[in-house]
Amino acid sequence: MLSDTQITAAKGIADLPPVESDSLLQLIGLANADKRPEKIDVGVGVYRDSIGRTPILRAVKAAEKRLWETQDSKGYLGGAGDTRFAELLRPIVLGEHARDDRIAGLQTPGGCGALRLGFQLVAATNPQARVIIGTPTWPNHQPIIHGVALEPVEYPYYDRASRSIRFDAMLSAIEGGRAGDVVLLHGCCHNPTGADLDAGQWAEVTRVIAKRGLLPFVDIAYQGFGRGLDEDAAGLRGILAACDEVLVAQSCDKNFGVYRDRVGALFIKTARRDATSNAMGHVLQLAREMWSMPPDHGAAAIRLVLEDEALTADWRAELITMRERIAEVRTRIAAADPRLAFIGEQFGMFSMLPFTREQVLKLREDHAIYMADSGRFNVVGMADDRIDDFVAAIVGAIDG
Ligand SMILES: Cc1ncc(COP(=O)(O)O)c(C=O)c1O
Repeated sequence: MLSDTQITAAKGIADLPPVESDSLLQLIGLANADKRPEKIDVGVGVYRDSIGRTPILRAVKAAEKRLWETQDSKGYLGGAGDTRFAELLRPIVLGEHARDDRIAGLQTPGGCGALRLGFQLVAATNPQARVIIGTPTWPNHQPIIHGVALEPVEYPYYDRASRSIRFDAMLSAIEGGRAGDVVLLHGCCHNPTGADLDAGQWAEVTRVIAKRGLLPFVDIAYQGFGRGLDEDAAGLRGILAACDEVLVAQSCDKNFGVYRDRVGALFIKTARRDATSNAMGHVLQLAREMWSMPPDHGAAAIRLVLEDEALTADWRAELITMRERIAEVRTRIAAADPRLAFIGEQFGMFSMLPFTREQVLKLREDHAIYMADSGRFNVVGMADDRIDDFVAAIVGAIDG
């Protein structure tokens, strides 16, 4: 029987305090509710084409049709999901390291699932490990790290005033790492700033990580949206060449446009094949406790794309189209005003405008332009025929 004190202390679900949710999720709700016809939603992180659609890629649609025609069972696949999918992804993500049998991978529910699972593995291996993380970063990184009770060590990655990476601060934070600490890195197309490390900076970061015995965890969610599939993975591959232990959280949700189908993979490298296979046993158990098995549909469709030469070629062509549109819109915005020139030198779907929260809210009220409170905006969030209006509004906001 419960004592009186236990009864008063017992809490019901109704006693929960309100949640402080990811402001980006709130923004999606606000943008959807705004019915003004001139609305421009550059808040949400999905690719939009020149007429403002987020289309299903041709190659994926063709694979889905084939899947519907040929899939003859929905029986369970197992905790690693579609193993052939993860195998076919290896050369795309890992390049020359695809043949390294000390690297194993498994399908996860998106990049988010891969990050959570990787950090869960770190927490199980070394609960004292700290996570060295640059700010600003994708707003779900910190909650995921917090969720597995690891301690974040933040450093300023980006200087909003000079619109450049604070590389000295980054290096000194990594230099300050203790053996076993994790260094979380964006593989390419940094979200939210669009400011990527150059080849020399990657080499320097890699050297210090290896020297200090740190564990690099590379989050690669936009491969192919920056400079090209191989170019965007070059930093990651350098890390794989230099470090014995590496984690990679990969997402297919953007570069195959299958956002809601939740497709990603976690790759684990250790110094020995048997140690990697033991670690895989652990992540399978951890995944079993969280989602048991990843959803099949999207990964199965991507497997069919990658198994078929013609579909793969078509996907690569569609990826180039997406990348070129991102670059073209960047060039157009950058050309509009010298103060926006930096946008032309950055990569991926996001850049950050030097706005205060008040300026962001005013743009929302006066022009129905929705961007994150931080000033992050999706460069391909609007159709081509809205770019001039967008630029005029943001230049107006800069002029005050
Ligand atoms: C940097 C970064 N990592 C990971 C993810 C997770 O992607 P997914 O939708 O595949 O979970 C995102 C998604 O926006 C992201 O921006």
